[in-house]
Amino acid sequence: MASAPAPTQAYLETLLLYYEEEVEGEAYFATLADLAQRSDHRDKLNLLARVENHAAGITFPLIQKYALRPRSNATLSRSGQDQASAVLKPWGDLVADMARTFPGYVDDFLRLEAMAPPQDLPRLKLLTEHEVAAIEFLDLELSGTRDSVAPLHAYLEKDI
Ligand SMILES: [Fe+2]
Repeated sequence: MASAPAPTQAYLETLLLYYEEEVEGEAYFATLADLAQRSDHRDKLNLLARVENHAAGITFPLIQKYALRPRSNATLSRSGQDQASAVLKPWGDLVADMARTFPGYVDDFLRLEAMAPPQDLPRLKLLTEHEVAAIEFLDLELSGTRDSVAPLHAYLEKDI
């Protein structure tokens, strides 16, 4: 039986980049949470940080599998913190901005899936799902739904 074709360099580079962005994202949301004025906003941002952490954890075995070398957690966290400090804005604007930009990330994750060896797909689909859960949260938040965080809690329950 022929062995599976080697993953492409483009796939491996994108996988590494997206993994690193989840680690940055955790620090980004945690920093926004620290800066939040209201406790409910702080809780929601901390939940987004946990979702990023969970997505990174789901992806990490693929980083190990291909012996990829992410930048250090300290470097990535600092980058996330710097990005958060640069975007300080009112809650409504923050949510609206995320609701506008996050669907593009789903497209990015789907392109990563399309490049992937089939055996990597279960983890990558769960990576994609974290962005879908975040978008569901944002849509509920924008519509004023009380339990807007339900999709985030549901995502945190998922694992492989
Ligand atoms: Fe993310």
